[in-house]
Amino acid sequence: MLLSGGVARADNFPSHPVTIVVPFAAGGPSDVMARKLAERMKTTLGETVLVENVTGAGGSIGVGRALRSPPDGYTISFGHLGTHVANGAVYKLDYDLVADLEPVVLLPSNPMIVVSKNAVPAKSLGELIAWLKAKPTPAAAGTAGAGSGSHIAGLYFQNVTGVKLQYVPYRGTGPAMNDLVAGQIDLIVDQLSNSINQVRAGNIRGYAITDTKRAESAPDIPTTDEAGLPGFHMTLWSGLWVPKGTPKDIVAKLNASAVDALNDPAVRKQLQNLGLQMPPKDKLSPEALGSWQKAEIAKWWPMIKAADVKVN
Ligand code: MLT
Repeated sequence: MLLSGGVARADNFPSHPVTIVVPFAAGGPSDVMARKLAERMKTTLGETVLVENVTGAGGSIGVGRALRSPPDGYTISFGHLGTHVANGAVYKLDYDLVADLEPVVLLPSNPMIVVSKNAVPAKSLGELIAWLKAKPTPAAAGTAGAGSGSHIAGLYFQNVTGVKLQYVPYRGTGPAMNDLVAGQIDLIVDQLSNSINQVRAGNIRGYAITDTKRAESAPDIPTTDEAGLPGFHMTLWSGLWVPKGTPKDIVAKLNASAVDALNDPAVRKQLQNLGLQMPPKDKLSPEALGSWQKAEIAKWWPMIKAADVKVN
């Protein structure tokens, strides 16, 4: 890479492998999406795109690691509504989610889905809520840690139903899903992309998705509006960021590579089969992600702060 005045330039960027830091465990929805994109991005970037899982503290450990890397485009922070919005309301972060990061591109999104272990004797969302309320002790809800998307979704579900949940933190909803299938925990309010195949296989029960319309990839799962919980809507969107100070032409090159991956028919098909929706074509610029993140911070922080989440 050419350094003019010590500043990295895109002329021959990248000249060695690029790393996407995924702040959750392998096998979860973040990891799966990042690896599918990385596989295609290496074609346009001409260098290997590695995925490194750096977990813990609802994803904030991994985000911190990525944004402390040199601002040269070689380390990318994969994140989402949980890590790049909610974490700022849950933790006293030693970084600023807006001032310390450059947005690169908005990635696909998906609704959440309320899922339970098969042993729960409920055939509808209403029956599940009744079962949860009748339990003498709070149900065990798997999350990817305080401030993660599944945790925020659990808080929201608790707020709108009045049920009490005991949150069980994992390093990602991949490991949480293993325990749900095994019946070790009771439920997850999970990303649809993480649950859809287990629901299809009959390994867990799916009750409703937090969207206003049914998912084409899961037409038999009702929406929360249809299932008696009107207005319980939540879309978990993902995105890519790089450390503040990364040169604009390098950000542009990474943006172009990621947009190419999103437009690749094979990648699109794989992601849409998981229930993921592509970002709008007019929201693919770095600036669009920056504005979106700021709007989501304004939307979600009041509810999360009111929940007074205790992080040990
Ligand atoms: C979350 O709950 O924040 C994510 O679904 C976790 C993950 O991607 O593993």
